[in-house]
Amino acid sequence: NKTIVVTGVASGIGSDTAKLLRLRGARVIGLDRNEPSLTLDGFVQVDLGEPAAIDAAVARLPERIDGLANVAGVPGTAPVDLVARVNYLGLRQLTLALAPRMPEGAGVVNIASILGAEWPQRLDLHKALAETPGFAAGEAWLQRHPVPQASCYQYFKDALIVWTLTQSQPLFLQRGVRMNCVAPGPVFTPILGDFVQMLGAERVQADQHRMKRPAYSDEIAPVVAFLLSDAARWISGVNLPVDGGLASTYV
Ligand code: NAI
Repeated sequence: NKTIVVTGVASGIGSDTAKLLRLRGARVIGLDRNEPSLTLDGFVQVDLGEPAAIDAAVARLPERIDGLANVAGVPGTAPVDLVARVNYLGLRQLTLALAPRMPEGAGVVNIASILGAEWPQRLDLHKALAETPGFAAGEAWLQRHPVPQASCYQYFKDALIVWTLTQSQPLFLQRGVRMNCVAPGPVFTPILGDFVQMLGAERVQADQHRMKRPAYSDEIAPVVAFLLSDAARWISGVNLPVDGGLASTYV
């Protein structure tokens, strides 16, 4: 059986991903700051925005890991430094700490967002951050290149996509481990309400008009599970939108 680590397992997309992976026979170890109500094969309570806590959690995880789904995230209504820590710096640290435990064919999936759409315009900046390894060095870099509160969620999803794309090929060539992003459109989860505050009611209403409806989290989970599976063994370094076609309507 595959051992798969899923973060953000106490709610929404992470919870549905863990459920589906277990149903398909994987051994799932969950990470979250909150205790999950679903049954798992293991759970480690951890604040994924705290580097020392991430190290402590890593020490409690199995020696062999076949998959990692980085789902935990906070909305852009949280303070900028928290968004940076949880949605980007902590995710990087956890992934790099676990990569040496992954055998050839293992997969990593990072949850981005269709709101992470502007990275090609700021590629140099995101690449510079991607090439600044380590949590503390990343934070120091961000102090020199401050990110505005209003767009911090989009900024760190952009940054996550660029980190994923630039890191995926060395990871694949050197270790045979694949890394991809899944970029959901709006999903019915507790953080959906925060998007009105982040984007303004007008943008959210316009999006709702273009969409049939937001996704249910069990419509995102199967895509994450697919990218972690052997069926996706030749897919690496992609950012896959799962948005009911919403992004295509901006063209
Ligand atoms: P959610 O709020 O239902 O779940 C997020 C989970 O992450 C929670 O269980 C929470 O406890 C955990 N978490 C947050 N901060 C943490 C920390 N510091 N340490 C440990 N765990 C922490 O939200 P949802 O929607 O399931 O979000 C999952 C991912 O999907 C996030 O990365 C989010 O940015 C992304 N996303 C969500 C969309 C939506 O419309 N809901 C749209 C696009 C992307």
